[in-house]
Amino acid sequence: MGSTSFGIPDHRFGSNGEKMPILGFGTAVLPPVGAEATKMAILQSIKLGYRHFDTAAKYGSEQPLGEAIQEALSIGLIQSRDELFITTKLWCGDAHGDLVVPALKRSLQNLKLEYLDLFLIHWPVSCKPGTYEFPIKEENFLPMDFNSVWAAMEECQRLNLTKSIGVSNFSCKKLTDILAIANIPPAVNQVEMNPMWQQKKLREFCRANGIFLTAYSPLGANGTFWGSDRVLECEVLKEIAKAKGKTAAQVSLRWIYEQGVGVIVKSFNGERMKQNLGIFDWSLDEDELKKIDELPQSRGVTGVAYTSKYGPFRTVEDIWDGEM
Ligand code: A2P
Repeated sequence: MGSTSFGIPDHRFGSNGEKMPILGFGTAVLPPVGAEATKMAILQSIKLGYRHFDTAAKYGSEQPLGEAIQEALSIGLIQSRDELFITTKLWCGDAHGDLVVPALKRSLQNLKLEYLDLFLIHWPVSCKPGTYEFPIKEENFLPMDFNSVWAAMEECQRLNLTKSIGVSNFSCKKLTDILAIANIPPAVNQVEMNPMWQQKKLREFCRANGIFLTAYSPLGANGTFWGSDRVLECEVLKEIAKAKGKTAAQVSLRWIYEQGVGVIVKSFNGERMKQNLGIFDWSLDEDELKKIDELPQSRGVTGVAYTSKYGPFRTVEDIWDGEM
């Protein structure tokens, strides 16, 4: 593991040696705050030292991220686009063999970039080709054809439109299915992970298979419609934070980092952006790790929005293959 000049350690991908700053900046905001506010928050985060940015075709933040990158270059915050690590995600309506490359090209246009660092399948399900509404209408869900979609993801990498490819919200079972057909295995699986949903089984599986796990909603996504304050208001985390002179948010982020997992954290507030960077020069003690290990577990992101009475996922158990 190397380190950027701002002290954020890097993860190195085995296959191509590319470096990914372990701590990334999330840009999913619901309810949305508008393009200008998003761009300004991203610019501020670049000033503070963030170099890894996570977006998705579905978030509406590709364009403001692209504009922030252009501005960061023009005012000299960064010298070259290569200093950044940019991830975006394929939406379900484009998760069809013939739509993947065009979807990535559209995302690149929004981002004003020639290439992406990481392209992820957003959810392991498709919907009617070319439909983009959310919530997805129940009758529009379709099973994903892993063969053709993953082959098209691989094509994106071969065309140098992206340096790496991966998935998001995939269970061990679905990763096994992808690995069985992949010529290029997924580099990353980005999933919900925080002290209240620790992903022990998936972490083990990913480690054994060389897939780098990255945590979204590391603070429980407080303030969004899918999140809650259960991480930031957790008494155990607050007690540890108090003893350490840190915040519950920092304890949560540090804990994730110590598990060998990447983190995508979102804050559009300057002080909290700074705070979230302050997790690399201290560590959790054994008894603190033990207390976190024993916290009651449940998913925050149930995935219920991806179920349909028509299938392919009739229940949330189907999405996660019983890994609840
Ligand atoms: P804000 O943008 O106002 O800072 P997650 O990364 O789990 O999705 O959580 C994001 C939510 O947590 C956002 O609503 C964000 O609000 C808030 N947040 C981010 N960092 C911190 C922090 N250090 N302390 C408290 N809340 C935070």
